[in-house]
Amino acid sequence: MRAVIAAGAGGPEVLSVSDVPDVEPGPGEVAITVAATAVNRADLLQRQGFYPPPPGASDVIGLECSGTIAALGAEVDGWEVGDEVCALLAGGGYASRVVVPAGQVMPVPDGVDLVTAAAIPEVAATVWSNVFMVAGLQPTESLLVHGGAGGIGTFAIQLASQLGARVFTTGGTSDKLAACAALGADVTINYRDEDFVQVVRDRTDGAGVDVILDNMGAKYLGRNVEALALQGRLVIIGMQGGTKGELDISALLRKRGAVIATSLRSRPVAEKAAICASLVEHVWPLVAEGLVRPVVHSTMPLEDVAAAHALMESGEHLGKIVLTV
Ligand SMILES: NC(=O)c1ccc[n+]([C@@H]2O[C@H](COP(=O)([O-])OP(=O)(O)OC[C@H]3O[C@@H](n4cnc5c(N)ncnc54)[C@H](OP(=O)(O)O)[C@@H]3O)[C@@H](O)[C@H]2O)c1
Repeated sequence: MRAVIAAGAGGPEVLSVSDVPDVEPGPGEVAITVAATAVNRADLLQRQGFYPPPPGASDVIGLECSGTIAALGAEVDGWEVGDEVCALLAGGGYASRVVVPAGQVMPVPDGVDLVTAAAIPEVAATVWSNVFMVAGLQPTESLLVHGGAGGIGTFAIQLASQLGARVFTTGGTSDKLAACAALGADVTINYRDEDFVQVVRDRTDGAGVDVILDNMGAKYLGRNVEALALQGRLVIIGMQGGTKGELDISALLRKRGAVIATSLRSRPVAEKAAICASLVEHVWPLVAEGLVRPVVHSTMPLEDVAAAHALMESGEHLGKIVLTV
């Protein structure tokens, strides 16, 4: 099989494609012949040496893929060799073949081509598990999505909007914010020249938003709590603005608010399987109807992996970057 290997930690140039020994499925696992994978911000951190794979996971970067089932390990029910699928991975996606626990394998949603399906598992699982399963966003509530034009953001806006919530989002350019509005964001905020707390207050009669999906971490911690409504839930999934912030507990306490932080990759296999099953039940029908669609900025061959990482680092992308294998 072919896989992206890294010549040490460093910039995009450390990545190249090489021949490596085939991986084989163990009990409860399937092997997938990969059609495509997609770039996630965590991949950049792993390449730089800051985000090692969890114990037992492949050293090869890549948190999601689409493809065809090539082999079944023992004790796998419900899948056949040849099935077209997509999968949530703990690693190993930047390769022509990957093994994954069967519970993290999902059918390709109807109406989505096999390559584009690679752009769905990580964003769908992150958004669904955090915004809906953890924060319990209700159709009558509001959601603030930071970084609405990113892979996570474009999916979160569509899903929350389809489920009836009022969606606020931040972004860095007017073009990106226009795209967010087209995806269903009701209120768009340019984080470079507007104060999101003030805009949220102005547009909610001072009440604040019920749920915040945050990619910035420390930099926005205090302001996110200010922007929360009574009984609001702040879910932190990223640390693009640092890891150590200061929290005014009295402000959180007065709001009876919650601050939650989660990581998908390190969760036990059974939890990931439950998230995937919930996705197929609740989110796949919306994708099949075209109400929620993966937003793909560009599709590049796996050999261009360094250029794909450089593109994500530039911040010029809108939505996902897909790599075909
Ligand atoms: N915890 C988990 O399980 C989990 C899982 C998946 C992803 N994540 C995290 O989710 C985040 C998004 O991932 P992704 O793959 O969607 O990456 P991405 O496509 O590169 O998106 C990053 C986003 O950050 C935005 N951004 C940059 N500076 C900002 C600021 N000051 N205020 C608000 N937004 C800002 C960018 O907005 P502009 O482009 O408009 O500048 C862009 O939309 C990352 O931090 C990633 O690590 C966490």
